[in-house]
Amino acid sequence: MKLNEIRAKFLKFFIENNHRLVSSSLLIPEHDPTLMFTNAGMVQFKNIFTGKQQTDMKRAVSSQKCLRVGGKHNDLETVGYTSRHHTFFEMLGNFSFGDYFKETAIELAWNFITQELSLDKNRLSITVYHTDDEAYEIWRKISGLADEKIIRIATDDNFWSMGNTGPCGPCSEIFYDTDLNSDDKVVEIWNLVFMEFDKDAEGNLHALPKKCIDTGMGLERITAVLQNVYDNYDTDFFTAIISHIQKYCTSKVAHRIIADHMRAAAFLIAEGVLPGNEGRNYILRRLIRRAVRYLGYDDPILHRIFPVLIDSTSPAFMGDIYPELLRAKNLIETTLKAEEENFKDTLTKGIHMLEKYTADLNPGDTLSGELAFKLYDTYGFPIDITLDILKEKKINFDHRGFNNAMQTQKARSKWSGSGEKSVDQLWFNFADKFGNTKFIGYENDEIGDAKVLNIISMENEIINAAHVGNKVIIILDKTPFYAESGGQLGDTGTILNAVNNNVAIVENTHKVNGLHLHQCIIKSGSIHEGDVVVASINKDKRENLCRNHTATHLLHFALRNVLGNQVTQKGSLVAPDRLRFDFSYSTQVNYNQLCLIENIVNNLIRANHTTSTKIQNMDQAINEGAIALFGEKYSDQVRVVNVGSSRELCGGTHVQRTGEIGLFKIVTECSIAFGVRRIEAFTGQEAINYIRNNETTLKQIAEHLKAPVNDIINRLTILNQERKKFEAKIKSLHKRVVNLENIKHTTINGINFLSNAFVDIPADIIRELILRNRELHTVIVYTTTEDNKNILIVKISKDLTSIMSAKELVANIIGKSCGGNAELAQAGYHHSDPITSIYNYLHDKI
Ligand code: ALA
Repeated sequence: MKLNEIRAKFLKFFIENNHRLVSSSLLIPEHDPTLMFTNAGMVQFKNIFTGKQQTDMKRAVSSQKCLRVGGKHNDLETVGYTSRHHTFFEMLGNFSFGDYFKETAIELAWNFITQELSLDKNRLSITVYHTDDEAYEIWRKISGLADEKIIRIATDDNFWSMGNTGPCGPCSEIFYDTDLNSDDKVVEIWNLVFMEFDKDAEGNLHALPKKCIDTGMGLERITAVLQNVYDNYDTDFFTAIISHIQKYCTSKVAHRIIADHMRAAAFLIAEGVLPGNEGRNYILRRLIRRAVRYLGYDDPILHRIFPVLIDSTSPAFMGDIYPELLRAKNLIETTLKAEEENFKDTLTKGIHMLEKYTADLNPGDTLSGELAFKLYDTYGFPIDITLDILKEKKINFDHRGFNNAMQTQKARSKWSGSGEKSVDQLWFNFADKFGNTKFIGYENDEIGDAKVLNIISMENEIINAAHVGNKVIIILDKTPFYAESGGQLGDTGTILNAVNNNVAIVENTHKVNGLHLHQCIIKSGSIHEGDVVVASINKDKRENLCRNHTATHLLHFALRNVLGNQVTQKGSLVAPDRLRFDFSYSTQVNYNQLCLIENIVNNLIRANHTTSTKIQNMDQAINEGAIALFGEKYSDQVRVVNVGSSRELCGGTHVQRTGEIGLFKIVTECSIAFGVRRIEAFTGQEAINYIRNNETTLKQIAEHLKAPVNDIINRLTILNQERKKFEAKIKSLHKRVVNLENIKHTTINGINFLSNAFVDIPADIIRELILRNRELHTVIVYTTTEDNKNILIVKISKDLTSIMSAKELVANIIGKSCGGNAELAQAGYHHSDPITSIYNYLHDKI
């Protein structure tokens, strides 16, 4: 049976057994600050298990994309050296939310593997947690396996937890004896977790409100078992990928690593992650670089292997179950290629750096561990290449220093959470009670009969009533207030009730679990739960938001037009006074391109296109060319915004006709991360204000220069030339003044001592003067003032540097270290008379 058939069979079996098919959640968990990546099928159901989130769903089945790198479950370094480890894999799972428990879970699993997959019962064995008598007995009854085939295990292997905190419980694992005469011939194929507890940060277990089932079967492993191969990478799926890798390298380890890491990287990029130096981005970089190292090929290759995953005729096709791979094709290919090229540069630079570090070392010397680590960490230079090069040069490697630096770095890069907030229980309760807030703000600015469903204090307490001065959150049954999302800021406005004279100012609107939360301050009267109110948004602000939002779509469209379709939105901010658009692109967008982009947008504005929106089936929208954001899980029905030829999935508010935008002006273009650029722009009145400000500045410059605006460049050029002439003149005058000074000449025990206190002469002129004196047996001490600073300059003739150093002498006098060397030193000073001090000092010393 092919891998794709096994997945389909699993889903079908559980659907037939009344499970709801739930599509895979993202690899980047939403609202879960504890996890770096989704590492199991249950992650998207975590809040249902803990009882935070209510659902009418009793049973679910999914094939979940998982990534086990970083965090509690981490297989990155293992992949390649074993036949069954992966970073990215698919986990088949069935779930019960307070519905069936151990008995049905075991029965379903047993029936699936023995009847649907026809696995030989004699090759199966089971483990249960050592205290779980119930599971033990159920297994005996259902499977009829001999007692010695049902093994009690006392370790954590049979007590599963998602991470350091969260849902957990005893588990039971199903093993299959592949009987292929190998050391690890017994393979774990399925894990059934009997979810009973929620583990808190202190490690205490709290009973879950309802007992649940979570199971996980690695699709790649079960495929290997069913295809009778020992190595997951010998299945039809991986053979198809590896057939594209074989021409570049021959080792089995390399084949596994490249196939696995390429796939993991592709999925991460499809979710909008780009290679970088921190957190998730760093993991992606490591995956790509580890693959490239094993590839050891000169040209970028990974992007040429990737298409096998979206080739519908290949056994490795994943585009149907994970359409994000199709949507992100361009982004994946360009990112893989750019990162490979970037890494090749790193290797070349690294070799060069290492040459520099080792230039002064001889055979038998040791390279500092810190330098080796710097090469490895900062420049991404692989440590084994460092070791190879050192070996050739017979230079030792400081393992201890390297390991110490590594430990420090590890402590630094430990995953300390995404910083994202988990959703408070309160909002789950409200969402459950009230459902989504009805948003009527696409059509209306105001509504006269909104009902106050609840009032919550800023401390998240339900207060039911609010009075003058209170800051509260108000939930309405329906609202014209757009809640901040998709980069567009939330609406502001008022909620008022003429009957009891209340006015609440809405300062912002957020969205949590489908609820629009109006963040208010009560200006007069009071407001109560159940009040019927007039809710009105600030129209001017909204109109500006609309201008900037539609302009953002036009900018996106123009960028793709000018720079190519690999431009992918990485983030955006739609504020009333400006817009910001972040996108993937590897080089600076030059001025000509920016002008072209600006022109395209302004042409679209002048064409006065109407905007229209359509609720559509997701697949159909994508087929019709709508652009979706990477890293979003969309529902089946999506809202598509059409403006001219631009078509985007978007929930935001827009102008009705592009002419309303008025004017579009780009103000900055810069880089914000490797491969990510940012454009900031203004529209409407703000764009006019910006241009007018620049115009005012120009006028002021012209006034200062006493020249008309069109002549200021000319005038500036002349001024600069004059300035240069004056500078040269002043310099020559300074030199003449210096030469007129009476340098004091004395001796200290036969050594010439020249000194003088200059006033208002630049230090560089004094340095020139001092360096002209080449007399031996001489100490020269000059002071000067420049821009109200006192400067001391000391020169010691070369023949005296064996007994004294200019640098040390100055440091001694001013009481702190200074710049310079044994012959010449310079420092600022606050000392009252450094010349006398140095004279006395030398007098005592010599
Ligand atoms: N959540 C369980 C696992 O990952 C099924 O093994």
